[in-house]
Formats: sequence, C-alpha cells, structure tokens
Amino acid sequence: MIIAIDGPAASGKGTLAKKIAAQFGYHVLDTGLLYRAVARDVTARGFRLDDRWAALAAARSLDPASLDDPVLRGVAAGDKASVVARIPEVRAALLEYQRDFARQAPGAVLDGRDIGTVVCPDAQIKIFVTASAEERARRRYLEHQGRGEAATYEELLADIRARDERDSARAIAPLKSAPDAVTIDTTTLDAEAAFAAAIEIIGAHMAGS
Ligand code: CDP
Repeated sequence: MIIAIDGPAASGKGTLAKKIAAQFGYHVLDTGLLYRAVARDVTARGFRLDDRWAALAAARSLDPASLDDPVLRGVAAGDKASVVARIPEVRAALLEYQRDFARQAPGAVLDGRDIGTVVCPDAQIKIFVTASAEERARRRYLEHQGRGEAATYEELLADIRARDERDSARAIAPLKSAPDAVTIDTTTLDAEAAFAAAIEIIGAHMAGS
C-alpha cells in the first residue's frame, strides 16, 4: 500500500503523513528532507546552490542517516531546498531512493510536492493537502516561536509565497494536485480534523477495493 501526500509549505502534510503511518503501522518519508539535505551538503562543500553538478554529486552521495539533522528544519534550509529542487538531475537522482522506500511492506506514506504525480503515480491513495497562505504562515510562526526562533509573521508569509511561486512555476515536477488526488483544505481544520478527513478517504478506498 502506498499513500501519497502532496501540498505546499506548512499545509500540514507532514503531520498528516506521520499520523496516517502511525495508525496503519506504515513507513513514513518526508521527502522535503531529501532536498533540504542536498542543499545543506552543497553549501557545506563550498558550492553554489545552483551548481547542478555539485548538487547532483550531493544527491548521489546523500546519507539517509543524516536526515535527522535539526538544521534541516529551519526556514533557510527550506528556501535552499527549493533552489536545488529545480535541478532535474537532482530530482532524477533522488527518485530511486523514494521509489524503493515506497515499495516497503506493509505500506508507506510519502509526503512532498510530486509524490502522486511523479514519484508514485500508481499510489493507491493520493491526498492533496492545502490551506491559505495566511494560515500556513500563522502555523509556521507558532512553530518558530515554540523553538525560540526570531522570524516575524510577515517574513514567514513572504517566504511561503515565494516558495509557492518557485515550486509551482518550475518546469520539472511542479507542485500540483494529481488528477486522481482528493484535496483536504486544512485552513479551518486542526491536525485531528485533517486526520479524520484522511481516514475517511482511506476508509472509502478500502471499502471499494
Ligand atoms: O515543510 P515544507 O513544506 O516547508 O518544506 P519541505 O516539504 O521540506 O520542502 C522543502 C522544499 O523542497 C520545497 O519548497 C520544494 O521546493 C522541495 N521539494 C520538492 O521539490 N519535492 C518534494 N517531493 C519535496 C520537497
């Protein structure tokens, strides 16, 4: 069983993916971390983020054990990730890892931007999670305050808008809903309500198959 969850920054897709995986005992992968880690490694080696060969080398030598690095959770890491994510060679290099991960028994939940469209077009269940930019910025702001970080709401809103634009406008694997995905708009839903909506979608699929 493969469950694909896509959506823009701070839409709640990561939280939802983890809850679904815990519920069914499935593996879970936050694919954004892969791009964040590639960007970290490119700059750590002294290259520019748009250096495609340095980024490709970083993607090929990515150590999955290094995905727990707390540095990867920051705003800067997300911004840097969306620069390397535009490089087709980087996306191709990360494809196999993601597909192998998805094939694990008894099932896997992957969240990202292109899981239902490119990485796992055959996923049995596809969910597109979205929310207004203002609500997403508000969530990021609360998360950042919880960690004692200094970004203002306005900065986080500007970052979310810039990243939406970069992710939606890129030529390869842009952020978009798969035609067979079901959308959950979490603007007025908390994590529990979004989870309930997802369980309903999964339940309907299981009843029908
Ligand atoms: O958590 P948040 O949504 O802010 O970010 P993320 O999911 O960690 O993704 C960071 C960046 O990586 C995104 O802005 C995308 O540019 C890129 N990304 C991607 O291109 N494809 C994916 N499957 C996941 C992330």
